[in-house]
Parts: sequence; structure tokens; C-alpha cells
Amino acid sequence: MISIALALTLTAAPPKSQALLDKGKQSFMTNCMACHGEKGAGDGPGAAALNPKPRNYAKDPFKQGDKPEELFNTLTKGVPNTPMVAFAHIPEEERWALVYWVLELKNAGNPAPATVDAGSPSKSAQPPPAKKK
Ligand code: HEC
Repeated sequence: MISIALALTLTAAPPKSQALLDKGKQSFMTNCMACHGEKGAGDGPGAAALNPKPRNYAKDPFKQGDKPEELFNTLTKGVPNTPMVAFAHIPEEERWALVYWVLELKNAGNPAPATVDAGSPSKSAQPPPAKKK
């Protein structure tokens, strides 16, 4: 009995899907954009007041790792002693959606600002191709 309960709580990353990305994008605009900026460049409206400041997802390494499981852990526990608090109250599926969206922003490499309309089922959830170096 107990082992079954444990197995259920240790959920693996769900497969990435367009639906999950859309969900992650919307949640990001609600929960994260104020600090991290729409594109994850660390330039949200609240960022200037923070210490330390959020870094740029695309350019700066993630201290706590950038594997999906590691990002999930960061969202669940936060980054100690920083304004990056834990988001354990966000439902698990939505946290995975955020993980995928953060990785999407990281891989997009901060393209020129685009308008995000979080309301519509977006084709824009696939960011424009990143510039290859
Ligand atoms: C109150 C401002 C604030 C909010 C809201 C916020 N963050 Fe952060 N976040 C930060 C700061 C500041 C850092 C940098 C912490 C540090 O210096 O390690 C950070 C760091 C991170 C990192 C990098 C962690 C690492 O390993 O280096 C990730 C990923 C991240 N945030 C994701 C999110 C997501 C997803 C959300 C929304 C659910 C979110 N953050 C909401 C301020 C915020």
C-alpha cells in the first residue's frame, strides 16, 4: 500500500506536448513574467528591485541544473536565499508545463520581443527559430 502511494507521488516528466507548452506559457505570464520577463531575459517589470536579479535563461547557466527534473525541483523548492521562491502550490502538471516553457525560452535565445496573447490557442507557442551561432 505505502509503496504504491510513493510510486504515485514520484511522477516522471510527462511527455512534452503543444497543450503543455501553451499551458506553461500562460502560467509563466501569470506567475513568472513580472520578474523573469516575457522572454525569460531577466527583465520583467519587477526585476530591477530584486537582489539577486533573475538571470537570462538563454545566456546564463541555471545554477540548479537545466534538466527537466532539475527545473521541476527548482520550481518546487525555489532557490534558497533569493527572491526565487518555491512554487509548490502550483499543481504538478502545471509545474511541468512551466519547466517545458522555460526550456523553450532558453532554447529560443531571446528573439526580438514578440507580442504574446496568452488568451488564444497560439501558433506562437513555438518561438521563432533561434539564431544558430
Ligand atoms: C519575485 C520574483 C520572481 C518570480 C515571481 C519568479 N522568479 Fe524565478 N528567479 C528569480 C530570481 C531573483 C532568480 C535568480 C536566483 C539566483 O540568483 O539564483 C530566479 C531564478 C530562476 C531560475 C533559475 C534557477 C537556477 O537554477 O539558476 C528558474 C528556472 C526560474 N527562476 C524559474 C521561475 C519560474 C518558472 C517562475 C514562475 C513560476 C519564477 N521563476 C518566478 C525571481 C523570480
